[in-house]
Amino acid sequence: MSKITKAVFPVAGSGTRFLPATKAMPKELLPIIDKPIVQYAVEEAVAAGITELIFVTGRNKRAVGDHFDANLELEAQLMAKGKTELRDMVRNIVPEGVSCIFVRQPEPLGLGHAVLCAAPAVGDNAFVVLLADDLMQGTELPTEALVRAYAKKPQTVLSVSEVDPKDTSKYGILKPGATDSDGLISVEGIIEKPAVDKAPSNLASFGRYVFTPEIFDVLRGLKPGAGGEIQLADAIDQLAQAGKVAAITNPSRRYDCGDKFGYLTAIVDVALADAEYRDRFLDLLRDRIAQTAH
Ligand code: UTP
Repeated sequence: MSKITKAVFPVAGSGTRFLPATKAMPKELLPIIDKPIVQYAVEEAVAAGITELIFVTGRNKRAVGDHFDANLELEAQLMAKGKTELRDMVRNIVPEGVSCIFVRQPEPLGLGHAVLCAAPAVGDNAFVVLLADDLMQGTELPTEALVRAYAKKPQTVLSVSEVDPKDTSKYGILKPGATDSDGLISVEGIIEKPAVDKAPSNLASFGRYVFTPEIFDVLRGLKPGAGGEIQLADAIDQLAQAGKVAAITNPSRRYDCGDKFGYLTAIVDVALADAEYRDRFLDLLRDRIAQTAH
């Protein structure tokens, strides 16, 4: 069984919740202070041993490509100004030994369709999928945990978190089977956005997955589901019903950066975790709270 070295980043969605910011720019380039959310996902993948980054891009293709491409002119300018630290930081956005491939999703026909567009670049290999708008923060991140789970038992694995039971109608919810001694949960199905009284659990699947190439065959056979889109969740559900899917608990904290409030929360928490800003930012927050109390 071979090690997972490929990661797929679907970045071709419309990002309508962030208009007008996403009119000319993909939402995956929205920054948390100074780093685009897709770069956090790339760093998480590289830390898990991924060496081939496959971006599924859409109409705003250029900006994501430019971000991960070398910019020799900028590097030379920074060097000329003696800003070697900044030059090294820009140069190492994609570390040595890691390569990027860009494939195109001609139309945003759904996440399942975006993953299918990566099939020629993935080939006959297991791979991880990371949705950049799910930002993960913590000492252990889910991609590493997923790769490890796959190494123990090669199969499709989802990263899941418990959600408030009253919120099940917002998420893809697991129908869980038994949990083994390693914490691997067998998955019997996944139900999109069930009402509270119909939810089989409060375990929700978020934007990190390991897939075997079998997912492509299932996606090819799918008809458009909710919203006329090819839904990744429908393909996972089919595999789960055939007993081919497991899940592990996300070891980190997740921020939904596809949503404005989730994005704002991520910025606040990242700023509070940053030694450079923490104290000043706390003072600012205290000051604002005091002002609103009057
Ligand atoms: P979302 O459904 O959250 O993204 O997709 P969206 O459609 O861009 O956002 P809104 O709802 O209009 O604001 C989750 C991920 O899947 C990608 C998105 O780029 C995002 O990373 N995606 C979605 C695609 O690559 N292609 C698609 O057709 C749909």
